[in-house]
Amino acid sequence: MCGIVGYIGHRDAYPIIIEGLKRLEYRGYDSAGIALYDGKTLNVSKTKGKVSDLEARVEAEITKQGTVGIGHTRWATHGVPNDVNSHPHTSNSGDLVIIHNGIIENYESLKQELTTRGYTFKSDTDTEVLVNLIEDVKQQENVKLGQAVQIALNQVIGAYAIAVFDKNKPEEVVVARLGSPLAIGIGQNDNEFFIASDASPFLEYTKDAVYLEDEEMAIVSRKKGVKVRKIKDDSLVPTYVQKLQLNLEQIEKGGYEHFMLKEIHEQPKAIRDTYRGRLLRNEAIIKMAGVEDNMKKFLNANRFVIVACGTSWHAGLVAEYIFEDLARIPVEVEYASEFRYRNPVINENDVVIAISQSGETADTLAAIKLAKSKGAFVFGVCNVVGSSIARETNAGAYTHAGPEIGVASTKAFTTQITVLTLMALRLARAKGTISSSDFRKYLLELEMIPKKVEKSLESDAHIKIISDIYKDSRNCLYLGRGYNFPVALEGALKLKEISYIHAEGYPAAEMKHGPIALIDENMPIVVIATKKGHYEKVVSNIQEIKSRKGNIIGIVTEGDVQVKTLADHVIEVPETLEFLTPLLTTIPLQLLSYHIAVMLDKNVDQPRNLAKSVTVE
Ligand code: F6R
Repeated sequence: MCGIVGYIGHRDAYPIIIEGLKRLEYRGYDSAGIALYDGKTLNVSKTKGKVSDLEARVEAEITKQGTVGIGHTRWATHGVPNDVNSHPHTSNSGDLVIIHNGIIENYESLKQELTTRGYTFKSDTDTEVLVNLIEDVKQQENVKLGQAVQIALNQVIGAYAIAVFDKNKPEEVVVARLGSPLAIGIGQNDNEFFIASDASPFLEYTKDAVYLEDEEMAIVSRKKGVKVRKIKDDSLVPTYVQKLQLNLEQIEKGGYEHFMLKEIHEQPKAIRDTYRGRLLRNEAIIKMAGVEDNMKKFLNANRFVIVACGTSWHAGLVAEYIFEDLARIPVEVEYASEFRYRNPVINENDVVIAISQSGETADTLAAIKLAKSKGAFVFGVCNVVGSSIARETNAGAYTHAGPEIGVASTKAFTTQITVLTLMALRLARAKGTISSSDFRKYLLELEMIPKKVEKSLESDAHIKIISDIYKDSRNCLYLGRGYNFPVALEGALKLKEISYIHAEGYPAAEMKHGPIALIDENMPIVVIATKKGHYEKVVSNIQEIKSRKGNIIGIVTEGDVQVKTLADHVIEVPETLEFLTPLLTTIPLQLLSYHIAVMLDKNVDQPRNLAKSVTVE
């Protein structure tokens, strides 16, 4: 949801910013821009399109010189993606330049006020309003840039991560955050600093980073270093420098054609990393600090309420089945975006579990704040360490999937299910709803899952052939029951988002209440029909489809005979316990959507209109 990068130091800023923007392109990619100060002139170049389009534009338009600069890759909120609406935006005087990730909600009223004072606007963006507001404050109050930013932000309603540069003060860049992430990399050389939405743009230069908290701003100065202050009252905040664990290989494609494919193949390792240190099979225990420390809260809860969006919401649906089945805990799963605007009946006896890969999703964050205000205990399941949701929740457990860069979520989903399964098993044991011998059996099987995911990945070539047959379909249905109903939803979402083929997921038995009308010889139907879990009933559904000439792709357990005789194609996954099947049945669905999208020549890692982290509502 927009990526921002900045540099101030002794090196050429241009290559650092351009390479940084490429790494942040997952956050938004409808336009890009850069501002560089060459010691005399502030040169700005921006364009609709990708960072590669920006490179061509820079080549033709401006000098690449300068040891300070800021850059932006955009996911449009206010104003269509075009050259003028792209960031950076300059103030009316041409002195100030800004990049912004987020939304200024009261920009219309601020714009009106500035217009009455003679300000004019070229773009439709809220960001251009903000940079002029800062300029106005600076002139009216006769203050320095840092103070002007602070005063202006106190008038703003909304969310932001910003970097502002004043060509009259080329020794510093001012940054601030509320609701959108912002990291400052401290260069090995004292006088060098990096600014970015996440640490990936500066990993090869430094592992030392300061993460701004909400409502904080910082003056990043070549001479004076980093000074962090509270936006509200200007009080100084001690700077806490974190050592980054991330390394460069983790954010590179590693020989794969796309990040999505790399991340699909990383799942055996990611799942193993997620249970490592938590699943101690020899001792027959599961140890999760966030759960152990709050065991009473979990055990005394009236119910669990899971809040999430998109794929994370699907992981929540799988968890609903697992918690209810194993630990006998009532669970409700809510879209965070709906939950936050209802008046939900929730209180201190509820445990809310918030699931989010990025840890930055605005709706999930708002749902957490609402639940906390009503007294609920909120537990986070996040992938990104130190993210806003990880910090906002009372306790939590990280999925250790590693960075997920492809916009379509893959390993985040399976590792979320892994964490939630560990939690359910731990709580089931504590409540005594499963026996110790079953518990041991389950741990053993969970440890087998990475190998079984590897086995599932071996169907890749076969799935490619099936993809070729169905790549030109206009619609597709995904059906599953029980634990595999959410997997059907997830399979449909994957196909929609990267291949733009309309797809719907349904509980298999619901088919006859409507969707069956769609079935004819042009409709591919993916049916998850693994041996456990209402197998016979799903087989009946397959027969109903068959008699209406639908094309059936069955996801079946290794060695299946019955579905093979009915389906047009089958894709096998190894046998496992019923509650663990989603970890396997998801894999062929990811590969199917991946191959179809590649065959249709779609941009798999950066599908249109989407962004990896949705920091606006
Ligand atoms: C789908 C996808 C999205 C995200 C959703 C929530 O592939 O990636 O549906 O799952 O935007 O994002 P997080 O998990 O970061 O809160």
